[in-house]
Amino acid sequence: MNIRQRWIASEGRYDNNAMYQRCGRSGVLLPKVSLGFWQNFGANDPYERSRLIAQYAFDHGVTHFDLANNYGPPYGSAEETMGRLMDDDLRPYRDELFISSKAGYDMWPGPYGNWGSRKYLMRSVEQSLRRMKLDYLDLFYSHRLDAETPLEETLEALVDIVRQGKALYVGISNWPLEQLAFGYAYLRARDVPLLIYQGRLNLLDRKPVETGILKFCREKGIGFIAFSPLAQGLLTDRYVDGISPDSRMARAGSLTKDRLTPEVLDAVRDLQRQAKAKGRSTAEEALRWVLDQEGVTSVLVGASSVAQLADDLKCVEV
Ligand SMILES: NC(=O)c1ccc[n+]([C@@H]2O[C@H](COP(=O)([O-])OP(=O)(O)OC[C@H]3O[C@@H](n4cnc5c(N)ncnc54)[C@H](OP(=O)(O)O)[C@@H]3O)[C@@H](O)[C@H]2O)c1
Repeated sequence: MNIRQRWIASEGRYDNNAMYQRCGRSGVLLPKVSLGFWQNFGANDPYERSRLIAQYAFDHGVTHFDLANNYGPPYGSAEETMGRLMDDDLRPYRDELFISSKAGYDMWPGPYGNWGSRKYLMRSVEQSLRRMKLDYLDLFYSHRLDAETPLEETLEALVDIVRQGKALYVGISNWPLEQLAFGYAYLRARDVPLLIYQGRLNLLDRKPVETGILKFCREKGIGFIAFSPLAQGLLTDRYVDGISPDSRMARAGSLTKDRLTPEVLDAVRDLQRQAKAKGRSTAEEALRWVLDQEGVTSVLVGASSVAQLADDLKCVEV
């Protein structure tokens, strides 16, 4: 009889003492490298590959998995993959994991499946929990600012999601500084402190530094998690010798060919040279730069293979 063996996480998963960093002025420690499920975890991706990446991550102390309602494609399917991973491998480790989701972009048809209304956020969090087969989220985000909805409505929904026990903490992603400052004060006054801000930060896009968002987070004790820290793969060796057919750029989705300008290629080749001189990989060097920005808690990477994730994890000193 073929008895299926259950996967068991590595006993050495917490051996790297340099892995964790306090998230702002909170009680939460996050891994310096977190794993994003935006791409490579949808229904169109091979499940066994996604599973190996998630297992490798957890085996190496990556306790934070980041999702959103509409990650896939199709929408919702990355959360379903997470649910399957819970059933297959991760449920025994639920309390060792920090799982986030978000709502803010288009998710379901009609007027209630997008933006920042209470209706959308409250129903979306329920759907996310169901798809991921979880009874709570660790972190729930407003995914983007909705300029048409009163900020108080969006923020009050976040407060209620915490009070109802559906998420332990709340976060804000992609809001401009002025609205972030409003949100921070609003949440603080209701004793649901803003745990973390999620924004794009990498060597090619330094807006959170330039706009003062990172400084604001640092000063107020809000954590900062940097998404697309490798500029979707541009800041690696991936495109130095052309566009490989299995790359994100070749799939013609979120990373368009016009991003690969001669200036960007020059900058990446420079980075590659600097990395080599220090005995590092290009991705490692790019991630170290992000982690070196004061106030950054974690780099939120994507990976289409275990080898990529292994390479990315080199940025955390052992
Ligand atoms: N809040 C928001 O609005 C928002 C927006 C975007 C992303 N996010 C979050 O941030 C996460 C990460 O975003 P991202 O996927 O753009 O991050 P990224 O780490 O900048 O890019 C990941 C891609 O880079 C390539 N890559 C990674 N490591 C590599 C290595 N060592 N060598 C060569 N290539 C490597 C892979 O591309 P290939 O697929 O070509 O192999 C991989 O899929 C998302 O999953 C999501 O959780 C949030």
